[in-house]
Amino acid sequence: MEESELSEFRRTLVTSALPYANGRIHIGHLAGAYLPADIYVRYLRMKGEEVLFVCGSDEHGVPITLRALEEGTTPKAVIDRFHGENEKAFKAAQIDFDIYGRTSWPRHHEFAQDFFKRLMEGGYIEKRTIEQYYSEKMKMFLPDRYVEGTCPKCGYEKARGDQCDNCSATYEVTELLSPHSTIPGDGSTPVLKETVHWFLRLDLFQERLERWIGERSGWRPNVKGGAISWLKEGLRPRCVTRDTEWGVEIPVDDPDARGKRIYVWFDAPIGYITNTAVWAERSGRPEAWREYWQSEECRIVHFIGKDNIQFHAIIFPAMLAGHGDYILPDMVVANEYLNFLRAGQSAAEKFSKSRGTVVEVGWFVETFGADRLRYYLTAIAPETSDSEFSWRDFRDRTNGEAADVLGNFIHRTLSFTMKTFGGRVPPPQQAGEREERVAEKILQARADVGRLLESFQFRQAQNALMELAREGNRYFDEQQPWVTRKSDLGACARTINTCLQIAGALSRLMAPFLPGAAERLARMLGMNDHDKPGSWERIGVERLAEGHEISKPEILFPKLEPDQVPE
Ligand code: MF3
Ligand code: ZN
Repeated sequence: MEESELSEFRRTLVTSALPYANGRIHIGHLAGAYLPADIYVRYLRMKGEEVLFVCGSDEHGVPITLRALEEGTTPKAVIDRFHGENEKAFKAAQIDFDIYGRTSWPRHHEFAQDFFKRLMEGGYIEKRTIEQYYSEKMKMFLPDRYVEGTCPKCGYEKARGDQCDNCSATYEVTELLSPHSTIPGDGSTPVLKETVHWFLRLDLFQERLERWIGERSGWRPNVKGGAISWLKEGLRPRCVTRDTEWGVEIPVDDPDARGKRIYVWFDAPIGYITNTAVWAERSGRPEAWREYWQSEECRIVHFIGKDNIQFHAIIFPAMLAGHGDYILPDMVVANEYLNFLRAGQSAAEKFSKSRGTVVEVGWFVETFGADRLRYYLTAIAPETSDSEFSWRDFRDRTNGEAADVLGNFIHRTLSFTMKTFGGRVPPPQQAGEREERVAEKILQARADVGRLLESFQFRQAQNALMELAREGNRYFDEQQPWVTRKSDLGACARTINTCLQIAGALSRLMAPFLPGAAERLARMLGMNDHDKPGSWERIGVERLAEGHEISKPEILFPKLEPDQVPE
């Protein structure tokens, strides 16, 4: 039941969506595409799997140029700042990418242009003359997302560009009713004007993708269902260039390409490849990226937020297939949204900068530590539906679960060992039926956590780990070592030995979720391999030996007082 399909593949490439470098990541982002990916990677490494974890900044796109314009600076200055800040914030949260790359790297421009050229040669990209909205006031063509109007399908009045946030229909931007520009300082009604752009013939991939999606197994319904519904609507050619000076140059010798660049959503996913290639170069094996992208021995797993599903389940796979030299992803894991619930309110809202509800990762970690952040975000992970972050719930759950259940079990076990057995693991004695049950529970926890992580159920996986800590507390309470210590020292030794074995297993089970706390616990237990490759299979098998020395316990999760948590 524990054994998985992992073994079919030699290696795994895990990617997290490349965040735009025009703002700071917040905890909503972290819960979506980064924390689960990091947990997954840490787990695979402990299983001894070969895995590479790539991410980086997404540095193109019109929003970055607009932000630069507003701040009176250059796109380069904007991306340099946020690239650095976001990289630091991920580190603070112990999201350990093997590389945090950049789409402004020349190497990236080469990769993106190679894709564009190959797809053109294959007849998958073609030039077309189209009519596009143009703002007379700003003297510019308007990117789709800067046109707002009424949805032609459902009548929603704030539909943007070519996709409706209300009914998720997709259509041509020209089908929007009463369009107006949302470029800051504009607001005018745009006019249609002729222009030239390059289109990716997604329609040519219809059957191939239908077959491919149909064959996917183990995909969450939000991803597979989303992909199927787009396929049902019928794939249409999609414009992959934009009127902007910021982005990858269109690799054609054509005056029509002047003032235009490759669309950010075309180049961004190629960033995963670039970053793998730069990682390979830096590791002294410049061709090693092909082992991840061009080898059937590799499985690619993308972690994303739900607004990125179409790009990862349809468009990027079409690009990879059309190029011809690449494998397609094995898995796309998308989370729903994490929203913010204000004190005293009943409905959650989106994290929003303007309403002051953005919780920045760097600040959070400095104030509460990475473990509390990771514990809580996994506990409320928006896996099957949107979920809510609230400060009160944060305090209650980290105090009531991480501290009271996990922290408390560790603390009472270790203090007891210090006090009664001089800080050494007491003899196990003859295991009774109850101890055998504990041993089974440890193996059960390993199997459960592993199975749940391999099926991307992070929230439940963390629960399964907590279940073992609960079992530890139950066992401790039942056995009453504080009583047997006086009446039957042998029984007391057996109890504490058993509890220490649970603690040792916990330090490993915790490692993917709470690497900092797991490390502190391992140190207290005098373990030096709690998260090393291969250590997963040792859970419940390898035991702390009699006489092994532990060190003075420190509190794993100090409790938060009410006034330590903002309202
Ligand atoms: N920058 C995009 C976002 O934040 C995600 C890009 S993912 C990639 O929504 F695949 F394109 F890299
Ligand atoms: Zn609509």
